This record gives sequence, structure tokens and C-alpha cells, in this order.
Amino acid sequence: MKSIVILISGRGSNMRALLEAQPHCRIAAVISNRADAEGLNIAKARGIATVVVGHRDYADRDSFDTALAGEIDAFHPDFVALAGFMRILTAGFVARYRGKLVNIHPSLLPAYGGLNTHARALHDGVKIHGCTVHFVTPDLDHGPIIIQAAVPVLPHDTGQTLAARVLREEHRIYPQAIRWLCEGQIELSENDRVTFRSRKQASHAMVSPGLE
Ligand code: GRF
Repeated sequence: MKSIVILISGRGSNMRALLEAQPHCRIAAVISNRADAEGLNIAKARGIATVVVGHRDYADRDSFDTALAGEIDAFHPDFVALAGFMRILTAGFVARYRGKLVNIHPSLLPAYGGLNTHARALHDGVKIHGCTVHFVTPDLDHGPIIIQAAVPVLPHDTGQTLAARVLREEHRIYPQAIRWLCEGQIELSENDRVTFRSRKQASHAMVSPGLE
């Protein structure tokens, strides 16, 4: 069975979704750059190994990433899943895990990379928003896309209500993407495309607001 290491910085709800979904892989460890990340307690309660690599303990990004990679590699994972990991990773780190490092982002990439995605989507008046699981490349939030979920933006949405609607979908698509990876159903090709072993069909179109 393949194994993964999950990197978190905070709440850890995506991490929990991965633990609960048991996506045909072993969760070898959860690593956080913050000792106070709430997700660490969830992992510990389930008997998962946890490690803290505090970014403030290192002089620069390179030395932090080297230490982080050392901790990850000690578990010999097949894949590394970023789940709300709030550090920008160096090109060297990303290259080391090419095709093995995935991230969940709360927008329909390539729209709204970076932070405050829900507020920006509301500000722009988009009618459809969502989330994306992608392979990580040096280009921040622009790696090859594995799966996306779209949700409607409703007239009275606030950042919070929209975030909650998107988060529900994050918790569905991340376990799916990890399951595909661990079952060998998808991989990253030489030319940065996600190749699927069998053809996956989208279930249906979303129109927002709905047609009458
Ligand atoms: C999620 O919205 C994720 O998409 C983003 O950071 C948030 C982390 O939430 N990268 P959680 O820690 O998984 O609850």
C-alpha cells in the first residue's frame, strides 16, 4: 500500500477528511510548521505520528525546506499532500518531490491563486467559484490540475458562507485525488500534464444562477 505524509499549518479539516476517507493509502505522518496547529491534535488522537518543523527556527527558506524534507523523507512516503500548509516552498523542494507533491486550493484555478480567494471572488461578482487539487510546481498555485469542484455563489453570500460551501467540496475532492494517486490512476507527465489511466467523465454542467 502507498503511503503519504500530510503537511498542515492550522485547523486541519482537509487532513481530517483524508484520515476519515482512508483513500487506499497509509497516512505515515502529519507535519506542521506550527506547534499550535489544531490539526496536530486530531492526528495524534488517531494515533498518527506528528512532527513540528517550526519555520521560525530556521534562518531562511532554504534551511527550513531542507529540514522539512529530512523529516518527510524519514517516513519514506510515496506522496506528500499539502493541506492548508501556509509556507511558500522553494523551487528546490518542489523539484525534489516532482509528481509526488499535491495541494488543495480554495478557488477554481487559475483564477484566484494566492490568499483571500473567497473575498476576491465575491468582490468580482463571479457566479461560480470552487476548489482545485493540483500537482505543485514552482509556479505558485498554478500546477497541473487533477480535479476541481464548482459551487454556485449565492446572492447573499458572505466570505464565510461561501468558504463553508467550498470547504465541503474540498473535503470530497481531496480524498478522491489522493485515492487516484495511490491507486496509480493518475500521474504527472514529462510535459506537466495530468494523465489518467482511464477516462474520467465530469458528472454534469453547473449553471449559476439556474436557468428558468
Ligand atoms: C483550505 O481552504 C485549503 O484549501 C487552503 O487552506 C485551507 C485549510 O483549511 N489551502 P484546513 O486546515 O484544511 O481546515
